Amino acid sequence: MTINIAPSILSADFCNLERDLHAIANADLVHVDVMDHHFVPNLTLGEPIVKRICEVSPLPVDVHLMIEDPDRWAPEFAKCGAQSVTFHMGATHAPVRLARQLRDMGCKACFAVRPAEPVEPIFDILDEFDMILIMTVEPGFGGQKFLANQMAKTRRLRDEITRRGLSTHIQVDGGVSRDTAHIVAEAGADVLVAGSAVYGAKDIAAEIDLIRSNAEAAYRD
Ligand code: DX5
Ligand code: ZN
Repeated sequence: MTINIAPSILSADFCNLERDLHAIANADLVHVDVMDHHFVPNLTLGEPIVKRICEVSPLPVDVHLMIEDPDRWAPEFAKCGAQSVTFHMGATHAPVRLARQLRDMGCKACFAVRPAEPVEPIFDILDEFDMILIMTVEPGFGGQKFLANQMAKTRRLRDEITRRGLSTHIQVDGGVSRDTAHIVAEAGADVLVAGSAVYGAKDIAAEIDLIRSNAEAAYRD
């Protein structure tokens, strides 16, 4: 299994975004957190900036929508050029319809669960998604402490994906670092988002490589 590292630009310097996008060129995806001051108590950026990120980024763009009404807005982010768009269980009304709409636009469809949300309701609609995001912090802010209590959920999801022979990716987001990468990989996550751990490092490229190698050493098949 290949481990993908997706640095979150939430911890980048928004006044030097192009520089900070190129600083992570040895990662696999760039993770862009869109927050609306409603679904989460923080506000980040919208379509015009995501569109420019997609134009200048050396990596495919993975948009994480922490917004109300993704049924209305998610397709707009696919139009911006995102490779994948993630929306939350707690925000969508018609996840299957939205996932199909995104896929019809050539965009990967991803579904996210917050720490108190169960993953089992997704099992019957798993093949509608390219990736499931298990939040390992309450969404809204970078730099929070990793919630190890989300690993049982991650394991149950990995077991279900393996049992059915699906290729669905499992992403984890929140508190992922060189010290927790082995824990999430051992539980079965293969796409690791890391914001403060990457952008807070002295040597950003080396930190990405270290997080990836720590995860690869621990990944369970
Ligand atoms: C939080 C965001 C994350 C955030 C992660 O709601 O979804 O992507 O940037 O930041 P760290 O890696 O610092 O926990
Ligand atoms: Zn995120």
